[in-house]
Amino acid sequence: MQQLNNKQILLGVTGGIAAYKAAELIRRLQDHGANVRVVMTKAAQEFITPLTLQALSGNPVHTDLLNPEAEAAMGHIELARWADLVLVAPASADFMARLAHGEAGDLLTTLCLATHAGIAIAPAMNQGMWRDPSTQANLQTLIDRQVAILGPAEGSQACGDIGPGRMLEAADIAALAAAQFQSGSLDGVKLVITAGPTREAIDPVRYISNHSSGKMGFALATAAVEAGASVTLIAGPVALATPERVTRINVESADQMHQAALAELGHCDIFIGAAAVADYRPANIAEQKIKKNDDNMTIALVRNPDIIAAVASHPQRPFAIGFAAETQDVLSYARGKLKNKNLDLIIANDVSDSRIGFNSDDNAVTVVAETSETAIAIASKQQLARQLLAVIAEHYYAKNVK
Ligand code: C5P
Repeated sequence: MQQLNNKQILLGVTGGIAAYKAAELIRRLQDHGANVRVVMTKAAQEFITPLTLQALSGNPVHTDLLNPEAEAAMGHIELARWADLVLVAPASADFMARLAHGEAGDLLTTLCLATHAGIAIAPAMNQGMWRDPSTQANLQTLIDRQVAILGPAEGSQACGDIGPGRMLEAADIAALAAAQFQSGSLDGVKLVITAGPTREAIDPVRYISNHSSGKMGFALATAAVEAGASVTLIAGPVALATPERVTRINVESADQMHQAALAELGHCDIFIGAAAVADYRPANIAEQKIKKNDDNMTIALVRNPDIIAAVASHPQRPFAIGFAAETQDVLSYARGKLKNKNLDLIIANDVSDSRIGFNSDDNAVTVVAETSETAIAIASKQQLARQLLAVIAEHYYAKNVK
């Protein structure tokens, strides 16, 4: 995780039982070369002492907005400017509400308003508080404002409940914080990404297709270019502008996408199949428009080639990543596809959740590898694409030494 090397992380700690994990988080951030300064809310100091976090961070802990002594040492605006990233962990429901509403009643919220750096928060709270519509509305506001949401995880909670709201583990938060700076992580790597739906012609005016918008594949292409990769995007018919510095190949049918994908394999390190390829196509394409003579009609269909499986079994096989959009048993179906299609990674998402469905702007996924799973919480497709590429880069370099 070189992305954290020499980075200045302003760690905000708010009041919740998970505040004790901030101590370990400081260590994990430092392990990767980050310089950490800590800001604590008043409630956080009820759970862990400033002295502990001062000793670990090696810097004085900031607690007050209106403390002349602290302001003289490093004023709040200076502190806001110092940060390369403001990371709030744990972020309580109260803090999320105050951040969402632009409040500036204490040092941490003031810093969040004043800073030009990115903000990432790791929520931690009781599952009922997390699920409450007010928290969910605040969460959506923060997502819309490009605040990165790290977690929360699901599981047993300090209060005895089981559900979503546990803070992610320190190592995962550090990895996701690194993902916020991942530019350059794919320097010189060649990526090919398929995106969007395919169209399978029935006759000259009709076709079979699906609702894929192509947004996830296009967001991945944008993020990959930002990370230093050279990117070819094989796009089905979508209404999206070509991201800057991306080579785009437009296709219509699965057959065309298949041909275009195979033609790229001589110069491809990582292949991501984000397209929603039609599984079947009409056995015959009528040369003329079909007339409605009968009450019933039947279209015979034949299977389309599985593009990602063909890529992953090719002699010039790149690092191969597929998507598994599922409505039930998401992870077990994803694992099945990882194996059957001979992939390195599969990115599973639950399309039964309307917030992250086919056409939505947000997504939440789990990256499934042979021996690990990494969950990435709901975020805009752009933000999620950055986090995803960081996880992909780690797996890619683990297999292909840099
Ligand atoms: O089997 P399923 O369609 O659910 O698998 C989804 C993954 O396989 C996606 O990565 C998709 O792009 C890819 N795929 C493909 N060619 C097909 C069908 C799916 O590349 N014909």
